Parts: sequence; C-alpha cells; structure tokens
Amino acid sequence: MIIDKSFRISKVDERIYGSFIEHLGRAVYGGVFEPGHPDADENGFRKDVMELVKKLQVPIIRYPGGNMVSAYDWEDGVGPKEDRPNRLELAWRTIETNDVGTNEFMEWSKKVNAEVMMAINLGTRGIDAARNFIEYCNHPGGSKYSDLRIQHGYKYPHNIKTWCLGNEMDGPWQVGHKTAEEYGRLASETGKAMKLVDPSIELVSCGSSNSKMPTFPEWEATTLDHTYDVADYVSLHQYYGNHENDTANYLAKSMDMDHFIKTVIATCDYIKAKKRSKKTMMLSFDEWNVWYHSTQQDSKLEPWTVAPPQLEDVYNFEDALLVGSMLMSFLRHADRVKMAAMAQLVNVIAPIMTENGGKAWKQTIFYPYMHVSVFGRGVSLHPVISSPKYDSKEFTDIPYIDSAVVHNEENEELNVFLVNRHLTEGIDLSIDVRSFEDYQIVEHIVLEHDDMKATNTVIKEEVAPHTNGNSKLQDGLLESRLNKGSWNVIRLKKY
Ligand code: AHR
Repeated sequence: MIIDKSFRISKVDERIYGSFIEHLGRAVYGGVFEPGHPDADENGFRKDVMELVKKLQVPIIRYPGGNMVSAYDWEDGVGPKEDRPNRLELAWRTIETNDVGTNEFMEWSKKVNAEVMMAINLGTRGIDAARNFIEYCNHPGGSKYSDLRIQHGYKYPHNIKTWCLGNEMDGPWQVGHKTAEEYGRLASETGKAMKLVDPSIELVSCGSSNSKMPTFPEWEATTLDHTYDVADYVSLHQYYGNHENDTANYLAKSMDMDHFIKTVIATCDYIKAKKRSKKTMMLSFDEWNVWYHSTQQDSKLEPWTVAPPQLEDVYNFEDALLVGSMLMSFLRHADRVKMAAMAQLVNVIAPIMTENGGKAWKQTIFYPYMHVSVFGRGVSLHPVISSPKYDSKEFTDIPYIDSAVVHNEENEELNVFLVNRHLTEGIDLSIDVRSFEDYQIVEHIVLEHDDMKATNTVIKEEVAPHTNGNSKLQDGLLESRLNKGSWNVIRLKKY
C-alpha cells in the first residue's frame, strides 16, 4: 500500500458521522427519554445514553423519521404536554404519545452536541404544513407560528439548517407513496416555499430506498429533474444482512454500496449536464446499517402498544466488520458524500442499547463507528493498494484488505482504517508512508474475535477492541500484521 499526503480525495465532511432517531420502538421512549429512570436528568433524558452518544461524537441526527414522518403531524408534538394527543402511528402500528416532540428533541440534541436534520411529512401533507413548521422552528418572531413557538417557551428560533423533503417516497410501504413525477413536483414546490421562509436552509431530495428498488435509478433521474435547483443533496438508504449465513459474501456487501454511490453520482451528473447547471449535487447517505436479525421477532409483536421493542437487532462480530467497511466506503467518496446517518442510534438497529429502568450498553458495531467518527476527521486520501482477492456468490475480485485513510493536517495525525476480510489467514501489509516524515506509531487498535457470531450483551462485552496490534515503522515503511477477520485502526502522529 502507498499512502501519500498529495493523493487527496477531499476534506471529510464530519456530518458523514451522523445518526438517526425515529419515533419507533424504544428509540425515543426508553432510549433517549425515560423520566422515571434513576439516571434521567431534569427533562427526563437518560444521562447514561447521552454519555454513550457523546463518545461517538455524532455531529448531526436525523429526526423524527423515517417511515413515521410520512403520517406525522408536527403540531401534535408541541405545546403543553397535557394537550398532546395519543395518535395511531401508522408506519410501525404503535401508539405515539407525543410526550417528546420537536422542542424536546432540539433540547436533547444540544446536550449531545449534535445538529438536527429535520424531516418533513410529504406523505399525507405538503407545502402548507412544511412552511408552517419551518416558520415555527426558524423564524425569530412576529408571525403566527414563530409566536406560537415563543408562547411554548422557546424564545429563540431553533435555526435548523438541514431538512429532508420527506422519506423514502419511492417505497410502496410509505404512507402517501408517490410516483417519481408526483414526488418531484411536490418536493420542488415544498422546498421552494421552505426556502422562501428561510433561504439559509439546505434541502435533501429523496433518493431510492435501496439499490435494489425496481425504480432505481430512474427515480433519481426523474425526481432530480424537478428538484435539482432547489435541493442541495439527494438521499441514499441501504441496509444489509447475512441472510444466507455466507460470511465471505456478506463482508463484500460494502462493494454494492460503492457501486450504489457511484451510480447515484452518475445520475446526478447526468441531470447536471442536462440542465447545463453549474451546481454539483451532493449525497446524503442518511440511512445505512445492518438490519435483519430482528425481522422474525418483530412479526410477533402486538400492534397499538407504546414503545414496543421493535427492530432490536443484536449485532455480532461480523456485523461490526461490515459496518467498518461501509464507513470506509463513505471516506473513499468523501468528495460527494457529505452527510450520512447510521440508522439508528439507540435501541432500534442501533449501536447503543438500553434496558428500561436499567443499564445502557454498547453493541459490537459501536466500535468501528466510534473509531471512524473520532479518528476519521481531516482529508481523505486515496489508499493505493494491491491486495490479494477472492470471489463470492454475489461479487468478484473482492480485495481481502479493505482500506481508507484520513490525514488530519491540523493535528498532524494519519489514521489508516483496514478490514482483513480473510476468514482464516492473517495478512502482512507493507505501507509506504515516506511522505509523512517524522511520523510515529501512536497505536494499532484491533477488533477481532474467533467467533464471527459473538455478540455483546448488557452483562458482558464479548467484542471489544484492544491496542495490541502488530505494527512497526522504520524508514518510512509501516509493516503491519492484520489478523484474520479483523478491524484495524493504525494511528500515526508527527512528533
Ligand atoms: O430505519 C428504519 C426504517 O428503514 C425507516 O423508518 C425507513 O426510512 C427505512 O425503511
């Protein structure tokens, strides 16, 4: 491998380390918010959960959905609590109490040092609800909805900068599902009205719900034809699972993600060319993760209960490896992927889990997410690498070594992220780092486990990183041993 400081892809936009909280299952109620919990603060927010969120250094959090937003009336979640209605939440067929709404979530996000990426309802609603909502959130005062916010106790506007124009509107499961033409027109007119209220905002146009959607990428081409001028980003969503229990194939699924990103870029650039536009559309990968472990157990849940344990995937070690590879895919596309959201953050397909009334704990996927978020800030560099390869059921020419590199010029740090996908053999890697004079090894972090199916629980953290990785650096050559099936972070710093 050769790493050179002049092989720049782009500065990493820190918002790629974003996440997502939906009013779904126990994400909000029992996760973020649990007033009776011994560790709850004066507002009912769990401090143990906030501490774990802060460890991940999450810069931006998407809210309030997800599928849920497509039938959500934002007015239900603001104002005096005693006036807030219980509603049938149609996406997940639960009861939404509206104990937490926009203002409470904005307060919580401040406590965890995150911005909010707010989604509006383009399923059952449209221009009118969206323009009122942004007036409520962002206008200083002296108008109907900004004064309502002030009356609700929030003198200063929330100034929410990033807004999603609906959620997964290409999906037939979505309440208010639309054709690409219908969505494109509605999104562009809604976005126009929202930017009239607050021209400083940025908008995300809905892309496809996953790369296998039959309408992909025609959906992007048609919708962007309408929204190209008003939107600043197009969204991508993708979840993977090891349904066939074929780990070698599963660990290569990040290659599908690379392909998905490249295809969306190509489609955006086609519309750019068609419109003779000077603007380049950026990508917001605002839902991504592993999601499949909980599907069966969820089918047994009773409908219309409050905060049932939905989508509570318990992640294993191989999931952590794939999550590491997915994060590296964002870094290698840092020139176009400017935001992303691990879906989700607490309890629902999440790195952080809680017991109601009990402890909070870290899933296996917490670690690669934390490592890349904390150490992946700076300039993403092209990893020039020659790796042995393998073929699997779905993919060919899969490099055993998957890699991404970030150079933090300010702190004079170089962080190399690596997955060894080989399931039975360690690999010796030589890295030419001659352009980083006077750099020394800080540490070589490794996440490894003999059992690909090992999981963490509230009682035992079976999968946790150590810093005994095998690396040495001499005369600009970094020599590392990457153990079989492992996640590695090799950190160098100038002394
Ligand atoms: O994150 C869970 C769900 O996955 C979201 O609500 C939806 O947008 C996607 O299908």
